[in-house]
Amino acid sequence: MPLAPSDDIVSLLTQDHEAIRQRLSEVCDAPPESRKELFWKLTDQLVRHEVAEELVVYPALRDLPGGREVASERQAEEAEAERLLASMENLDPGDDDFSRALAQLRENVLEHAHQEESEAFPLLLAHEEHAGLIYLAQKFKGAKLSAPNHPHPRLPSGSAAQKVLGPIASFFDRMRDEARSSA
Ligand SMILES: [Fe+2]
Ligand SMILES: [Fe+2]
Repeated sequence: MPLAPSDDIVSLLTQDHEAIRQRLSEVCDAPPESRKELFWKLTDQLVRHEVAEELVVYPALRDLPGGREVASERQAEEAEAERLLASMENLDPGDDDFSRALAQLRENVLEHAHQEESEAFPLLLAHEEHAGLIYLAQKFKGAKLSAPNHPHPRLPSGSAAQKVLGPIASFFDRMRDEARSSA
């Protein structure tokens, strides 16, 4: 049976990047009253994608010629986006602070995706066997599914409970734990 384009890791990651770009545009273009809901959807997509890359794609990349440095640089960008995302969870989407942080997040995420596409993906395509690309895609899909559900989207912004839980930071951590234990 012929393989669907999305059966290899680079196709899968490219599709994910496109979906994330679209979601970023949606959040940026949305009126304040619907921004927070879209922001949670964006967070869910980003956490699943970035943590699955961290646990599945970057370890494979590090084994390739020149891959170690590329993986380290990309992971530093992801860590920065993670910090920025977590800093936004208690901001009011109608505030200028939220808009500024969102613009910064968009710039960071778009640049990060571009760097992965121009540096990491060509390395994978040049050095991984086709079977390896398919295997990584399967592992990546599994890691994404192991993420816990949405991080408390119904808690009102700035509520005491949300501040204590720190939902976005804990979402990243819980997903790392669950993906590692199911790998
Ligand atoms: Fe990434
Ligand atoms: Fe990515």
